[in-house]
Amino acid sequence: MGWNDQIINEFRENNGRVGGMFEGVPLVLITTAGVRSGKPHTTPVVCLREGGRVVVFGSNMGKDRHPDWYRNILGTAQVTLETGTEEGRVRSYSTRAVVLQGEERDRLWERQCALDPAFRAYQEKTERQIPVIALHPLDLSADPARTRLVGEQLLAHHRDLRAELARLRASLLDPASAPASASVSTSASASAPASEGLGPAAQLRRHCLAFCYGLQLHHTREDGAFTEFERVYPHLVPVITRLRAEHAVVEQGLREFEELLDAAPSGADGEVGSVRAELERVVADLEQHFAYEEEQLLPALRGDVG
Ligand SMILES: [Fe+2]
Ligand SMILES: [Fe+2]
Repeated sequence: MGWNDQIINEFRENNGRVGGMFEGVPLVLITTAGVRSGKPHTTPVVCLREGGRVVVFGSNMGKDRHPDWYRNILGTAQVTLETGTEEGRVRSYSTRAVVLQGEERDRLWERQCALDPAFRAYQEKTERQIPVIALHPLDLSADPARTRLVGEQLLAHHRDLRAELARLRASLLDPASAPASASVSTSASASAPASEGLGPAAQLRRHCLAFCYGLQLHHTREDGAFTEFERVYPHLVPVITRLRAEHAVVEQGLREFEELLDAAPSGADGEVGSVRAELERVVADLEQHFAYEEEQLLPALRGDVG
């Protein structure tokens, strides 16, 4: 397990607190969508809170390259934030990232440098200006039109994922039919890199991963949005508790599926068969999950109840 993963695990197990060099430092986890892969990318970052928003800094410890998460945010501003709470457990939130400019950026940057002089030292190490980003949590209480839009997006993402799964199943039955490049449109602005020159087994693997990443990203983002649904629609808490549990089961299955892909496919018939069987196992209850989610959540989001 890498250093980042250890911090992430410690953060989630200790209500957002991490020891060692991060002892006492205000941290959050942010999950962004990989610009090229669409893969969910989670990283701990130091934060500053101002009003309802959370401000983060693309310092990359003074390196000349912007951190990957910042480049991801420039691709899609939808960010899932995890933070410790007064309830004693980490919760995730759906947020929209805004890259700050001018006086507002400078004011918050100076505030952070005053709180933690290491940040000033990072700026001195590099020519690039360190970006300052505000994360605005989703707020459904104020805006019925926004709420309806969230419901429409949920349906659109399900439609895309269903279509992608159908294509993936077809290509697993007949690997020769695999598209030259596969992407899931829910993976934000992601598009799979060109796959010219890849053999059928590598194309199949890429196609499988594109679907996995699209589904993981969808569930990560939903988990964040659900926190706001629970706040605005308390009657949905039992439903959302079930949906979150189903996400965790799918996530575990997707991880095992990825391990199988890493270990397997040379493209031999037997291996494609085992990939297909494992995919079917992971997605066995997915259609039911989508249908239950739509049936239970959409009326509230459309303003029919609640
Ligand atoms: Fe879901
Ligand atoms: Fe969903």
